[in-house]
Amino acid sequence: MDLMTDKIQDEQRQGEAYAPFAGDPNQYRRKFYIESYGCQMNFSDSEIVASILNESGFGATRNHEEADLVLINTCSIREKAEQTIRKRLSEFRKTKEQKPGMLVGVLGCMAERLKSKFLEEEKLVDIVVGPDAYRSLPGLVEEAETGQKAVNVLLSREETYADIAPVRLNTNGVTAFVSIMRGCNNMCTFCVVPFTRGRERSRDASSILAECRNLYERGFREVTLLGQNVDSYYYTKDDETPITFAVLLERVAAISPDLRVRFSTSHPKDITDDVLHTMAKHENICKYIHLPVQSGSSRILQLMNRTYTREWYQAKIDRIRQILPDCGISSDIIAGFCTETEEDHQDTLSLMRYSQYDFSYMFFYSERPGTLAQRRYRDDIPEDIKKRRLQEIVELQNTLSRISNEKELGRTYSVLIEGNSKKSEREWMGRNSQNKVIVFPKEDDNLQPGSYVNVTVTDCTKATLLGKIVSP
Ligand code: 5AD
Ligand code: SF4
Repeated sequence: MDLMTDKIQDEQRQGEAYAPFAGDPNQYRRKFYIESYGCQMNFSDSEIVASILNESGFGATRNHEEADLVLINTCSIREKAEQTIRKRLSEFRKTKEQKPGMLVGVLGCMAERLKSKFLEEEKLVDIVVGPDAYRSLPGLVEEAETGQKAVNVLLSREETYADIAPVRLNTNGVTAFVSIMRGCNNMCTFCVVPFTRGRERSRDASSILAECRNLYERGFREVTLLGQNVDSYYYTKDDETPITFAVLLERVAAISPDLRVRFSTSHPKDITDDVLHTMAKHENICKYIHLPVQSGSSRILQLMNRTYTREWYQAKIDRIRQILPDCGISSDIIAGFCTETEEDHQDTLSLMRYSQYDFSYMFFYSERPGTLAQRRYRDDIPEDIKKRRLQEIVELQNTLSRISNEKELGRTYSVLIEGNSKKSEREWMGRNSQNKVIVFPKEDDNLQPGSYVNVTVTDCTKATLLGKIVSP
């Protein structure tokens, strides 16, 4: 196997930068182009931005060269992510040299982190907007059109964009993300998110339910409820009973048994038995939990301020397996955090074996300016050691994924068809409840994206299951 680098990890995490097309472009006076990097939350935010821009007369284009407004929704989570974005900005600079009227805006976490410093560092950037200030984008565009540099990076304690109907970008018409909360109060010491996305706040439950219902009516068959820490969702209105995440899940699941419900991300300290029982009760709540562990060493977990120990996490895994025996579990893992010894690293490997993850996102530690770890600890693990440990983690995960996939041979799953497989128009691609991708030959002409079909697993690769349709 070739050396797994942070680059591959970032690509996995980020998916592709995308150039959406939304609505009839002739209906709008001007065109915008948007590209997103980083977590699903950013992709979801870009759909809110598209809605705000549509309202103010901008239609989307897939070609940045024909856009009047080029936007890049950015990620700061690791240094590598920021480097990728700077490279992309220098490509936009070339277009702008040919087309001086074009405006370039930076959105998201990097905008928030660097604020107006961005305008000094990247001369071509005209607009800088933080994650809580997207409503001000039309005004900032007007300001920038008069030649001023326009910045709004104010964070908010209330903004949830609850009333904005996101414009679905690059959609397959089957699966959609629905943001249920913003920000994070956890203060993991390695993480820049609490600084770039601000305090945690939960979105009005009735607006979440309305959005999910609307998606279902439009033919969507899967919603993923999104938040940095969904299990701490908590919404109160006047004197009504507070709505916890378990209650919200139950209400979304009740929209229709044909609407699948997923969620991400869970913090191990916050996922409750209530949530696990709610998952067990509803067939359409997918049996899959992304439960980032970050490290398998209690000492490192404490330095990371994760607020749980190795043993506590193991007990959580046991509990999930007990209540949801067929649940898929995945993780995020960081190699080479400050002071990490070989023994700590071995603890991570053994915890991975204990947890039997189906899948993991794996990174080496990247010190981020302003985080608690940057202020408190020395980033003292040499890069070659970080990379070697990361590679060992990746190799182990490959083995675990293979074992997990081999166990699926001969099993039959209900699969929601998302579209054609990447390789062939004669094959469908879909997922089972556990979030595993299954590819299988088309047989029945009545099927289409959004249909459920029973598929028996006949073979597997490292990342994908292969199967064939069976009658129900
Ligand atoms: N260095 C490396 N990985 C990080 N993550 C967050 N911050 C850092 C960092 N400074 C990882 C964590 C988190 C995921 C989204 O990104 O594993 O869960
Ligand atoms: Fe970052 Fe921790 Fe919040 Fe996740 S829970 S966004 S890792 S601070």
